[in-house]
Formats: sequence, C-alpha cells, structure tokens
Amino acid sequence: MQKDNIAEEIKSRCNIVDVVGRVVPLKKTGANHKGICPFHNEKTPSFVVSEDKQIYTCFGCGAAGDVIQFVEQYYSLDFRGAMEKLADEYGIPIRDHFQKDARQEQYLEINREAATFFYKNLWREDNAAYRYMIGRGISPETMKKFGIGYAEPQWDSLLKHFEKLGIEPQLLVDLGLVSQSKGKYFDKYRNRVIFPILNTRGKIIGFGGRAIGEDNPKYLNSSESSVFMKKNNLYGLSLTRSEITKEGSAILVEGYMDVIALYQGGVRNCCASLGTALTENQARLLKRYTNTVYLSYDGDQAGQNAALRGMDILYREGLQVKVLQMEGAKDPDEFIKKRGRDAFLRLMKDALPFMEYKLQVLKSAHDLISTEGRIRFLKEAAVLLRQLSPVEIDAYISKLGEDTGIAPSAIRLEVFQKDESREPARHRASPEEEIESPASRMDMGERCILKLILRNGSFLERIGEEELALMSGETVKLLSRIRESYRGEEVISLEPLRESLEEQDFALIEDILEKTPVTGSDDDFFQDCINSLQQRQWSEMEKDLIDRLSLADEEENYDKIQEITQELMDLQKLKNRDRR
Ligand code: CTP
Ligand code: MN
Repeated sequence: MQKDNIAEEIKSRCNIVDVVGRVVPLKKTGANHKGICPFHNEKTPSFVVSEDKQIYTCFGCGAAGDVIQFVEQYYSLDFRGAMEKLADEYGIPIRDHFQKDARQEQYLEINREAATFFYKNLWREDNAAYRYMIGRGISPETMKKFGIGYAEPQWDSLLKHFEKLGIEPQLLVDLGLVSQSKGKYFDKYRNRVIFPILNTRGKIIGFGGRAIGEDNPKYLNSSESSVFMKKNNLYGLSLTRSEITKEGSAILVEGYMDVIALYQGGVRNCCASLGTALTENQARLLKRYTNTVYLSYDGDQAGQNAALRGMDILYREGLQVKVLQMEGAKDPDEFIKKRGRDAFLRLMKDALPFMEYKLQVLKSAHDLISTEGRIRFLKEAAVLLRQLSPVEIDAYISKLGEDTGIAPSAIRLEVFQKDESREPARHRASPEEEIESPASRMDMGERCILKLILRNGSFLERIGEEELALMSGETVKLLSRIRESYRGEEVISLEPLRESLEEQDFALIEDILEKTPVTGSDDDFFQDCINSLQQRQWSEMEKDLIDRLSLADEEENYDKIQEITQELMDLQKLKNRDRR
C-alpha cells in the first residue's frame, strides 16, 4: 500500500478528538473541543481541536496539524512512527507495509534474476532439462512461453551468480532458493527442471523444480514466504486468465505439467492448484475471471479425494463446478498427449455437474437392488444435497426418485428433516466434515448452553434466531427437538427426549449432563456462554476477512484493501466493545 493511501486511511479512521482526548482533557465548546495546550506552558486553555476539520490549533504557541502530526509532535515520533502507532492502536493492519514494500521489491527482483539465470541455463547448450522436456513432448516454443529453466547439478552455481551481484545469501535463503547447513550455503535446486511461478501481476513469486532423474522429492517448491503464498495463487493463471475469460470457464488441474501440456495442446483456459488442497482464496481468485470451473484432477484416489474437497470450496464461493471424468489416462497431461484436443473438449462436454458426480460416486458404493441399500444410499444422498439451494435440491430429488423408485416427497422429507437452514451458510460444514466430526467435539459453550437449558427449561425462551445463528447445526437440531418435547416443566424430562432423538444424539445429551461443568450463577453464566459464541463467530469472520485481505494485497487491489480494512475495523470495534 502506498504511503499516501495509508495516511489518508489513518486520517479517515482515527478521530482526532479521540486521539488527543486520551492525553489532553478536552471540553466541548460549540463546534470545537478545547483544552490546555500540551506543547507549551499555559494556564488558560487555548488549544482547540476541530472535529469537523480533524485538525488542532493552539492560539498560544501556534502548534497546529492533523491527527498524524499531533502524534508525531506529542510522542516525538517521525511521520512513519506516528502512522504505525495509530495503525496499531486502531487495528489498521498496515503496520509493516513500509519495510515490507522495499523488502518485497528486492525479493521479487531476486526471483526475477534467478528465473533469468535458470532460463539462460536451459538455452545455453545442450542439457538434461531441455532433453527431459523434449522427451515429454514439450516444444521449445512452449518451454519459452512458460519460462522453463534448468538448475545445473552443481551445489553453488546460483549462489556464485548472486555473489557476483553482491546479494546476501540470507536473502536467497529467505526465498527458498538456497539452503543452509552447518554454516554453509548451497543451491536448493540442483539438476532440476525449473518452473517459475508468477502471480497475476506477472511477478515471479516462486519456483517449482522437477527432478530430472528419479531424485526425491519429485518436485521441490519454494517455501512459503512473504512473496510466495501458495494459498493466494494458481499456477499458469498469469498466462491463461485472458483465455479463461474468453472461454467463459477454467479447467483446474493438479500439476505444472498438466497446465503446460494442455496449453500446448490448444486447451489454454487452465491453471493448477499445485498439488495442495484448494483454498478459498484460490477459488475467489478464479471467480474474478469466470463463473464455471471444470475440475480435472488425477484419476488416483488422492486426486479424487482432493477433487471432492475442491468442489465444495468452489461451490461455496459461488462457482459452477463440473467434473471431468478421464479414462485411459492418469492425468490431463497424459490424456491430451494420447488423445488430443478434441477428445479433451469432448470430456468437457460430458463433464458432470459436481453434485451429479458426487451422487454417482455414492451410488457406486451402494447396492441399489436391495431395499436396505437404497435406503442407505438415499440417507447419504440427502446429506449431500443439503448444501445446495432449494431449487437445486428439487431438481435432484426428482432424479433420485427415478433412480430408486422411492417417492420424491419422501426423499424431500429426508433432505429437509434435519433442518439446518437457520445456520448461516458460511458456517455450514461440508458433508464430509459433518460425518468426520463426532458430536462429542461440540464446542464447550454450546454444551454449557444445552446443559443449562436441560436443567432450566425457561432458558429456551432466551434462544432466538440471533442466538441460533451462532450455533452449530448439531446444537440447533438438538435445541429444536428439546423445544418440541418441552412441556413447561422446570427441569426438562429426559424420557420424551429419548423417544424423539436418535440414539447417538441422546447419548450426547447424557454425556453433556454428566460431564459438562456448569458453575456460577446460572443467569450470568448463560449470558457468558452466548457471548463466547458471539466472540467465536466474530473471530471466524475476522479470520475470513484477514484471508481476503491477503489476497487483495497480493493483487494490489487498493479499493478492495480499503473496503476490507473498513469491514475489519468495524468488526474489531464490535468485538472489543462486547468484550468490555
Ligand atoms: N507436487 C509437489 N511435490 C511433490 C509431488 C507433487 O509439489 N513431491 C505437486 C506439483 O505441483 C505437481 C502436482 O503436485 O505438479 C501434481 O503431482 P503429480 O501428479 O505427482 O505430478 P505430475 O504433475 O503428474 O508430475 P509429472 O507428470 O512430472 O510426474
Ligand atoms: Mn503427471
């Protein structure tokens, strides 16, 4: 962020009356505030602070300025120090930007230099990396397009290169280009094909290096640093984003070679998540360029599991998700080399919407001939469907009815039976997570609330929509059952609950009654529990905003940074006010 931007930001966020008022007692007089000037000796107040104009003036000694100048003058700080102090106190997350900017530029400069160094190696003379890539069917032209390079087998060729340029080895270590052991530095990438990784602003933020032989690991990637944040980037996107927009869709693959092979094969609207779990920020990044994503992960189990998780993340960010089903090839790289562009385009045409794909996977795991099998299939399908919108759900219900011969109305009941719609969508766990997390891991605050309610039914009245929105689906469900069986008695009787709850849910209730410590005055304690849930929700929202902020920062999107900063500050204000 630029200096001027920060200064403006701070001036608009920090009310001068507030800042001055902390150290100078002020009295409101008309439109202004007045006090004893802290900058010279006086008995009668001549120090005036204007809230409208956000400036101060002393009629006695002539001291004047805005909020930043006040902090400079009062705390004997320089401009930067004053801004950092204010930013810090008001929770404006920009504190390290000055140093970061300069350092960041230097890092990026070094990365560019390293990329050039590797690139030149590849084109200097016949070498192993070039032969390797040719052997994998990649043309010289494509290699150039992706800036492919070669790290030689020596332990110090990059190191020496930078030594000549007078660059500290520690900077290379920070970037993960050089490693250090027993006080000695050495090149991290040796005898590898180098894939530079660019962000969407065209800066080289990191590298992937593939072993040319059978070395382990097969791929070495830049370590996470302030310049390389995997979670905010997708490989290839800097080159392919215009194609993505043009085609109206993106093909998301796992590996470097998948992107390169597809691109060379004429399918250019692709990018890769680089073999890690897809992140929300990566989904948001894609969303800038398109609304439709085709997932084309490896056919092996690991790839398919990664795809299943990726789908939910993409869907939750509002993308249309389709899944490519490849046969006869383990990944898109192999597929397009074997079968060509048209075959790949046919795969895209035949791609299944992600829910259809999930249901198909589920179907193949169940025996739909037996009644029992069909019931189990439908119960699990209902869980999957719940993440969709009502209209989408309806479309699938008719289909499921046809597949199983069970009445759509019954399936609908199954889907909506455990109504969790009151839970905010962003908190809803994906079905996989839901199955994985046993209810016994329920948040302590929620357990306490349930216990208090079971011991004193009148607390039920204090649970409204707002409170429910803070709770997990599990708790919301239990509360609605408890409410149904509540007959106004003081201590809620368990027998009717045993009837209406599934076995594991009732076991959870018993567990809560037995093991949850409840202390203090019930009334205060109840409120404390609600407050702690509120804090938890705010913290989650805060984490999410900070995540978004790091993406906006990566993109140097100042409007977005400003917008999120505002939201963050509002939220932090809420959090702090409530805590007091
Ligand atoms: N990956 C990684 N580290 C590894 C293995 C894989 O970072 N040790 C990442 C790389 O980004 C790689 C992606 O995961 O491109 C997919 O892995 P894999 O399918 O094993 O690699 P391929 O791209 O198929 O590699 P290749 O075709 O070169 O064998
Ligand atoms: Mn591969």
